Amino acid sequence: MSPRFLLSLSLPVFLLAACGAVEDTRPGQPVAHRQAAFRAMLKSFEPMGIQLREGTYQAEVFRQHAEKLAGLKDAPWDYFGADTQYPPSKSDDALWREPEIFAAERDKFIRAVEALRLAAQNAPPEARQQTLTSLDALKAAYAPVEASCRSCHKRYKR
Ligand code: HEC
Repeated sequence: MSPRFLLSLSLPVFLLAACGAVEDTRPGQPVAHRQAAFRAMLKSFEPMGIQLREGTYQAEVFRQHAEKLAGLKDAPWDYFGADTQYPPSKSDDALWREPEIFAAERDKFIRAVEALRLAAQNAPPEARQQTLTSLDALKAAYAPVEASCRSCHKRYKR
């Protein structure tokens, strides 16, 4: 094995270790809490995307993920208080300079998640699940949520 290959292997491990070392030690741990809330969102959001993309849609499981995401949609925002921009935060400083744009991004997200929840609730039962039309309706409701995550991250996540 060449030394260069070894180096390229060990670098990411080193970076991971460095990231993991930063802990939120402030009272109330607002940064850790908002990051945990986003990770929880991802856990219900991602499997829905996989079902839609890979044609493995299961109405009931999908509906449960949509409900779960709806239940989490308000969780991170109260943790973006003043003076909460410190390591391990991955937020961009712009977030605190543009609170009204950030709030608009947040509100758009909340509306999109609620619409997805309703679409999942109204999706046809398992037996007719694979019809193109029913999946199209869900894809049309999923896409704005995905666009909303992306849009906010592009602006406010480093
Ligand atoms: C209104 C803005 C906004 C929306 C909408 C948003 N995020 Fe984020 N997200 C952020 C910001 C800001 C951070 C960085 C938080 C920090 O570290 O301070 C973040 C961080 C994350 C992280 C990293 C958490 C960690 O462990 O560091 C994940 C995962 C994530 N978001 C997933 C999502 C998913 C999935 C969606 C959509 C379903 C979403 N986010 C929607 C703003 C947003």
